[in-house]
Amino acid sequence: MIDLTRNNEVRARNIERCRERGVILPTFEQMRDPSRIPQEVQDRLRKIGLWDVDPANLFRITWKNEPIDRGGTYGGVNAFEIPSSITGVQARIIGLVGHWFPTGAHKVGATYGCLAPSLVRGGFDSQRQKAVWPSTGNYCRGGAYNSALLGCDSVAILPEGMSRERFDWLRNIAGEVISTPGTESNVKEIFDACHEITRTRGEEVVIFNQFEELGNYLWHYEVTGSALEEVLAPLAAAGMNVAGYVSATGSGGTLAAGDRLKQRYPHTKVIAAEALQCPTLLRNGFGEHRIEGIGDKHIPWIHNVRNTDMVVGVDDADTIDLMRVFNEPAGRAYLARMGVDAATIDRLDKLGISCIGNLLAAIKAAKYWELGPDDVIITVFTDSMQLYNSRITEEQERNGALDEIGAARAVARALEGQGIENALELNYYERLRVHNLKYYTWIEQQGRSSEELNAQWYDRSYWTNVQESVHEIDAMIAEFNAEVAAG
Ligand SMILES: Cc1ncc(COP(=O)(O)O)c(C=O)c1O
Repeated sequence: MIDLTRNNEVRARNIERCRERGVILPTFEQMRDPSRIPQEVQDRLRKIGLWDVDPANLFRITWKNEPIDRGGTYGGVNAFEIPSSITGVQARIIGLVGHWFPTGAHKVGATYGCLAPSLVRGGFDSQRQKAVWPSTGNYCRGGAYNSALLGCDSVAILPEGMSRERFDWLRNIAGEVISTPGTESNVKEIFDACHEITRTRGEEVVIFNQFEELGNYLWHYEVTGSALEEVLAPLAAAGMNVAGYVSATGSGGTLAAGDRLKQRYPHTKVIAAEALQCPTLLRNGFGEHRIEGIGDKHIPWIHNVRNTDMVVGVDDADTIDLMRVFNEPAGRAYLARMGVDAATIDRLDKLGISCIGNLLAAIKAAKYWELGPDDVIITVFTDSMQLYNSRITEEQERNGALDEIGAARAVARALEGQGIENALELNYYERLRVHNLKYYTWIEQQGRSSEELNAQWYDRSYWTNVQESVHEIDAMIAEFNAEVAAG
C-alpha cells in the first residue's frame, strides 16, 4: 500500500519550503479535471512556458494542456488518430499525446504520483534530503524537474546509453546525474546504483523507485485512465467497441490505466508491448534493444499481471525504420504518395520511438483479433521526436539519408508486413507465469515479501485498495495546501 503515515516534523518543514517557494500542489482530481484549478493559477500559466522551472507548472501535469509552448491553459485531452492509410487495418487506433506535458513526456506525472504523497505526509524531507529518481530516461527527467520546481535537490540515475538529448537537459536541471552501465534493458544495474547510494549516503537520500512505487500505478490509473475514458466515451456512445488498450511496459505504470478501462469496459483487452529483442514477458527472455524508455529483464512490482490479456513483442528494427519514414523528408513524401493526409504527416513527429512500438503492437492486436471499423484500440504516445532527433542523425551517419526505395521497403516490411507473430494471448497460467517472475527480482533481490506477492495475485482488494487511496491522498494534499497558504 502507499504509505500515508504522517511524520509531522518533516511535514512542517515541507510546508515551510512550499510557502517560501510559492508552491501549491495539484490534487489528482485537478490533474484529471483541470477546470477545478483555481483561476489565479490559470492566470499565472498564461505568462509562462510549458517547460519553465516555475512551480505553477505542477498544474500542467495533465493530459489536457493547451497544445502550445507558452501561455497555455487547458482544453480537451490531447489525442489523435493514426488513420488506416498508415496502419493498414480497419480498426481505429488512437493515441493520447504526451508531448504537451512539461519535459515533453508523460512520465512527469508518474514522478508526481510518487512524490506528492511522500511530501504531504512527511516521508521525504524537501529541506534536508535529496530525491533520487532511478530511470531509463523520462522518469528521472520528470523527477528532477518536479524537484527543481519544489526547490529540492535531486539525483537522476539512468543508463549511459540513453539519448544525448536526455543527458543534455538533465545536466541543467538535476543536482547530480549518475549514469549506469548499458541501455534501457539494464534495470538491474539501476537498482544496484540505488543500493549503493543508500549504503553510502543513508538518510541523506530518498529513492523514488518507479518500478515498485504504487504512486506511479495510482497516477496512471487515475489520470491517464480517466483521459482514456474521456476520449473513448463519445465513441462508445456512438456504438463503437472499445477493443483494447496498448502500452509498452517500462515501469508498468502506464499499463495501470488499463485497469481503469477494464472496470468501465470489462471485455477490453489490455495489451503489454515490449521489445522483441528483450522478450521478458513473452519468453522470460533477455537482450539489448533500441526502444528507449522501456526497461526490461524483470517484471515491475506495480504491474497487475492478472489484467494483462496479451503480450506483443515489437521488433526494434521496425520502430527505428518507421522513425525514419515518419521524420525524414523522403519518408514523409512517400507517405503522401500513399495517400496519407497532410495533417497526419505533420503530427507524426509527436511519436517517439516507444510510441511507434505502441502503434505497431496495436496493429498486431487488431490483426490478431480481426478487428473491424467498429472497433477502437487506444494507446499512449508517451513522448515525441523532440527527445530523439540525435537518433536520426546517428542513423543518417551510419546508413545515409533515407531515400524513396528505403521508405518503400520500410513501409512494406514494418507496416504492411506486420503480422500476428510474437503476439501471445495470455491464458490464466501464462499470466501466472509472468506474475511469478516477479519473485526473482522483488523477493530475492529487492527485499519484498512473498506474502505481498501472493496478495497481488490472490487478494482481489489489493489493487482496488491502492485505487481508492486517491481520496485520502487528495484530502491530504488539500490540507497541506491550506497550511501552506495559512502561513
Ligand atoms: C518513452 C517512454 N515510453 C514508454 C515508457 C514506459 O512507461 P511506463 O514506465 O509507465 O511503463 C517510458 C517510461 O519511462 C518512456 O520513457
